[in-house]
Order: sequence, then C-alpha cells, then structure tokens
Amino acid sequence: MIPALLQPILDAVAATVAPLSPDGLGEVESVAPTGNPAHGDYQWNFAFRIAKAQRMNPRALAERLAPLLQHPAITKVEVAGPGFINLTLDDAWIARTVAAQVAEPNVGIAPEGAGRTVIIDFSSPNVAKRMHIGHMRSTHIGDALVRMHRASGWNVVGDNHIGDWGTQFGKLIVAYRSWLDPEAFEADPIGELERLYVEFGRRAKEDPALGDAARAEIAKLQKGDPENTALWRQFLAISMAEFEAVYRRLGIRFDEVLGESAYRDLTDQVVTDLLAAGIAEVSEGATIVRFEHDVAIFRKKDGADNYGTSDIACLRYREARWHPARIVYVVDMRQQRHFQQVFEVGRRLGATDAELVHVWFGMLVLPEGVKMGTREGNVIRLVDLLDESVRRARAVVDAKSPNLDEAERAAIAEAVGVGAVRYADLSQNPQTNVTFDWDRMLSLEGNTAPYLLYSHARCASVLAKALRPEEGGEAPDLGAIVIGHPLERELLLALARYPEMVAAATRGFRPNQLAEHLFEVANRFNRFYHDCPVLKGGEARASRLALVEATRRVLRHGMELLGLSVLDRM
Ligand code: ARG
Repeated sequence: MIPALLQPILDAVAATVAPLSPDGLGEVESVAPTGNPAHGDYQWNFAFRIAKAQRMNPRALAERLAPLLQHPAITKVEVAGPGFINLTLDDAWIARTVAAQVAEPNVGIAPEGAGRTVIIDFSSPNVAKRMHIGHMRSTHIGDALVRMHRASGWNVVGDNHIGDWGTQFGKLIVAYRSWLDPEAFEADPIGELERLYVEFGRRAKEDPALGDAARAEIAKLQKGDPENTALWRQFLAISMAEFEAVYRRLGIRFDEVLGESAYRDLTDQVVTDLLAAGIAEVSEGATIVRFEHDVAIFRKKDGADNYGTSDIACLRYREARWHPARIVYVVDMRQQRHFQQVFEVGRRLGATDAELVHVWFGMLVLPEGVKMGTREGNVIRLVDLLDESVRRARAVVDAKSPNLDEAERAAIAEAVGVGAVRYADLSQNPQTNVTFDWDRMLSLEGNTAPYLLYSHARCASVLAKALRPEEGGEAPDLGAIVIGHPLERELLLALARYPEMVAAATRGFRPNQLAEHLFEVANRFNRFYHDCPVLKGGEARASRLALVEATRRVLRHGMELLGLSVLDRM
C-alpha cells in the first residue's frame, strides 16, 4: 500500500503531540492543505486546541512544537500568525509518492472500505412513465458514488429500485381496457401508456367512480389475478426496454435491479412486527406510525401498503442478503422526510445497523427556466437532452477537427455531448439546483467535461509524439520526475493529493469535490504546459514526459470515476 501524501505528516504530528494531547490523537484532522504556497503545503492548527485545553499561549506552544516535527517528507516547518504551523513537503518525496501512486492501477487510493459492503440505491425510475431528466441526477450521482466507493475498496451493490408496484397500475389497467389506441400502442408503447395515465387523471377528476375501479384492479393485481398480472408484466417489459436504452447510452450498469415488487410479499410481516413492537398503531382502520411532528401511514384502510412499508421490507431484505455496513439512497430532496421516517422506523424495528444515508439533490433547471420535477406536465425526455448535446458537440468537432474521419468525429461528439451533460450535473454541489447552460457546459474553457477531456487528450498527444521512434522516444520512466520549476511542483502536488481527495469526496458523498480537484489538476497542467517545454525540454525532457504521463493517468482515472468516456484525440 502506498501511503497517502498526508500520512507521513499525520504520523509525525501524532508522535509530536501524543504527550500533550488532552483527547488522544483524533486531532490530527486539524492538518489541512493550504490554498496559498506562501503558507506551505499543509497547515496545522492544532496548537490552538491544545493551548486552550492547557491554558497556554498558542504561538508559544506552536514554537515549542515546530522543532519537534521531524520527518523525511517535511523539509520546512514555520510558525505563522497567532500559532499556525506551516509545513512544506520535500520535493523528492512528492515526486516519489506520485511515481509510486500512478504506477498502481488504483493510483494510490487507500482501500478504506475493504471488507465492507455498501448498497447504493440509485436511478430508480417508475414503470409506465418515461424516464425523464428528473431521474438523471440520481443516475449520474449514484453511478459516480458506485465507482468512487469501488475505487476505495468497498464491495459495492448498485441497486436500481424501480417503482414497479403501486397505485399507478390500477389506474393504468382501467385506462388500458377503456381507452387504448392499439395503433398508437403498436407504434410507441411507452408514449401510449403515458397518454393513458394522463387520460385517467383527467377523467377521474370528473368521474370519482374511476378511482374505485382503479382500486379494485390494484386489489386484484395484488391477489395475483392472472389477467392483471399479465398486463402488469407487459407494462413492466415496455418500461424496462426504454430504461435500458438510456443506461446503455450512459454506460451505466447495475448489480441488481430489484424493484418495489420484489418486496411485496414481505410487507405483511413488516406491518405485523411494527404493531407487535408498539411502533405502529391502528387508527381508523389504517396502520400508522406517529412521529414527534407528523404521522405516516404504513397500511391504508383498504389494505394497500405504502411506499415506506416497502422500504422497510427492503431494508430487512438487504440486511439479510448483504449485511451492508452502509446503505446510500440517491433520491431527490423532496423525499427527505420519507427517508428520515424510514430510517427511524428501521432503527426502532432493529432492521439493520448499517449506516443509512440519504444523498439528496436539488432540481434541474433548464436555461429557459423550465423545471424538471417529476410532476410537471411538459416533461423533457432524457434521451432528447442527450441528443441535443451531442448535436451541439458535433458542430464544434466538425468546425475544429475537419481532418478527422466521419466515424471518429461522431465518436468524439458522442463522448463530449453525453459527458458534458453528465459533468454539468456532477460538477455542482448536489444540494443546489442545477441550471443547464449549453454554451457553458460545452465550452473548452472552465470547469467542463470538454476542458478535462481536452487536457487529457493533450497529455496523450504529447506522449504519442514522444513515443514516435523517429523522435527517439521511449515510454517515460515515472521514477525520473525531478522538480525543476515552480509550475512542475504545483502540478505534482495536485497529483499527489488525488488519492486523499477521492477519499474525502467519497466520505462526503460529493462527486463535485472530485470534479473540482480534476479541474485544478487540469488547470495546473495547462499552466505547466504553457511555460515548460516538454518535447523540447532538453535535460528536463525525461522528467517532464514522466510528469505528463502521471497527469494523464490521474485525469483518466478521475474522469472514469465520474463516468466520462475518455478520449486520446479530440
Ligand atoms: N421510484 C422512486 C421515485 O421515482 C424512487 C425510489 C428510491 N429508492 C427507494 N428505496 N425508495 O420517486
């Protein structure tokens, strides 16, 4: 295992403060990277805490601690201001760390999750409705979290919790039998199902008897009525084919696709146990759970189970099958209360002791100001959005690279177009609303997919040139990196920090932090490339080529964690 860049510093710090620390060594976390090279590479603020506990002046304490900090990785220790300790890393140490990290397939990311299982519940669209871009964020964020956890050594189960069991089927069955347009159904099955669903809603407003009819059909379906079951299967197959086309396009794979229907036979036991444990009670014929500020229904008086009941059954199933250490639900912000309730009830019932996390995210807003919720009528389909992005990317590729052949231009446009949408989504804090801006997300400048892809392709093309026999090139020796220029050091330090940034982004469920770091790496690379000749670097050539290769590996690894298709030429 390669030690993280930070590790030797933490070890030195821990050894230094052990005799002084009032509360053990947990405080090594007060070491943080600095943004400003004038403050060294890392800054240590621990003196403030100890000083407070020991009633000492922090500056005096820092001055006492500083000379004790000795480690081959640290070349300079400086006390600054009221008691900061600024640490500068040794150049050769950084270079060796990067060479060792990038020589590994996992580029030095520590296997923090080794031996533990995480279930990531993501995407999870609803059957008989088209997957629209409201589900896109869950798909993008969830897939990135799957890849990040896997890179961190976790055993990952990515599970698509399809909404395939619920009241919509009663409505759909009634509508299908009453108003189906067979020709339309033949031509565009999911479009016709959507139309029928909307039609039902419209008519049910005028005709309350329709609601009763739908409830009767759902009850029949739940009892296993063969005709309704056959219809349900047909609706399911139509939807799954549609979803799978989108997943193929996005390069998304699931380990499991267990929809709500998978848990339908487990909900009776949940209701029984909730009542027996005194967690739920019967009120006006319904089974309810009272929380401090609200009440949730787990079984309606007509016997139908709610979404929450299914989630508790699912929790038990997951515990029994995988014994997960962690379960992550990637679902939009409107379901925050739902998951708080599920987690609370699951705990009280003793369903699992896994760490339960709801990674929620805000809405998607198109530049025109159209909101992409799941309840809006004018739904923009995900595939249409991707097509539009690819079309725009194609125009740019045609203009910039007319020399490439048709097939390669098409492949580049697909990677750039799909990647731009994905990256625009992932590079922002999930807990904010995302606004799409075509010009910005497809720009070759700024924190965009095209910029990262382009930076990577630039590394690849420099290396390809160097490796041409007529140029006398050989594969770079990664051990050859020697820092001779401040921009080389700056780039190398960002590469060295990559593993710890992935770990932090994974711990915080924040793909955007990883994106930010890749942007930083690309920026530093481009600054270096602008000022430091590589192929014509003379004595520095071998070292610079090795640095370009290290950059290429880190950018590729990071972009793959975010699910981008990486290109060698653009
Ligand atoms: N199908 C749900 C929806 O679209 C999301 C399901 C999320 N996962 C879960 N275990 N509840 O709103």
